[in-house]
Amino acid sequence: MEEEKTTQAGLPKPHPSILKVIEQKKRLREKLSGIKHKIGVYSAKGGVGKTTTSVNLAFMLNSMGYKVGLLDADVDCPNLTMFLGMNETLSGDFPLMPVDKNGVKVLSTAMLVDDLKAPIIWRGPMIGKMISEFFENTEWGELDYLIIDLPPGTSDAPLSIIQLLDLDGFILVTTPQHIAAVNTIRSGGMAKRLSVSILGVIENMSDGSGTGGKEVADKLQCDFLGSIKTNPKFGELSDSGKVPAIQDEKIGKEYLEIIKKITGR
Ligand SMILES: Nc1ncnc2c1ncn2[C@@H]1O[C@H](COP(=O)(O)OP(=O)(O)OP(=O)(O)O)[C@@H](O)[C@H]1O
Ligand SMILES: [Mg+2]
Repeated sequence: MEEEKTTQAGLPKPHPSILKVIEQKKRLREKLSGIKHKIGVYSAKGGVGKTTTSVNLAFMLNSMGYKVGLLDADVDCPNLTMFLGMNETLSGDFPLMPVDKNGVKVLSTAMLVDDLKAPIIWRGPMIGKMISEFFENTEWGELDYLIIDLPPGTSDAPLSIIQLLDLDGFILVTTPQHIAAVNTIRSGGMAKRLSVSILGVIENMSDGSGTGGKEVADKLQCDFLGSIKTNPKFGELSDSGKVPAIQDEKIGKEYLEIIKKITGR
């Protein structure tokens, strides 16, 4: 007997591969249902401070009493754990349990490889599969916020994450320079095309040399969340595994102003 090509409503039946993706998204949604807000920290430009922003936002939110998870989704170059002086490894057996760091649940692909210096090479379809397995098999439990440190660029890894997860939206990070702003506007364009909200823009390494943050916010018509000044303490503290926003009052205040806008508090 020939298989029906239409649904009961007379609409064409979706291709099995599309049904598989829909099923996968459904499983992921159920798995992550204990997480109230999922926020991606993103920019197409490398080195602007995405990881710095993710770490400091996560620990500041935690210090304000929120339950927070922090995911290093930079699958090619995972370095978030270095900012936290963490060297825990996970066996790789499912389920994956994020590691507690002063109350924040942290997970990184770096925890699954023995040699951090060895290059990790993922190819297109593997990235999507790995990311979805990662999420389907991680026990985050109940969280107010999951902060996701996304890799730079517009390649498979950020795309897979955006497509698989129902993110609340992106926080875009730029530096004051026009060239960084142009690249960040590009990432915003991608987000818009994929119907992901832009929660706002942070200008990092602000030194008065430009107005990149405002330029991005104007162009993408989204909120300007605030600036984080260039401060040598970032390097010093991050290199010794300490969180600048928690250790330094001035830096903490800058992040607090931004967080108030994110949480609406
Ligand atoms: N406001 C700041 N003042 C001074 N140094 C900073 C500031 N923000 C970040 N840095 C430093 O800049 C460097 C790059 O930051 P970071 O690794 O967070 O960028 P990134 O966007 O995540 O990079 P990548 O694209 O490689 O993932 C780090 O050494 C960090 O300590
Ligand atoms: Mg980074």
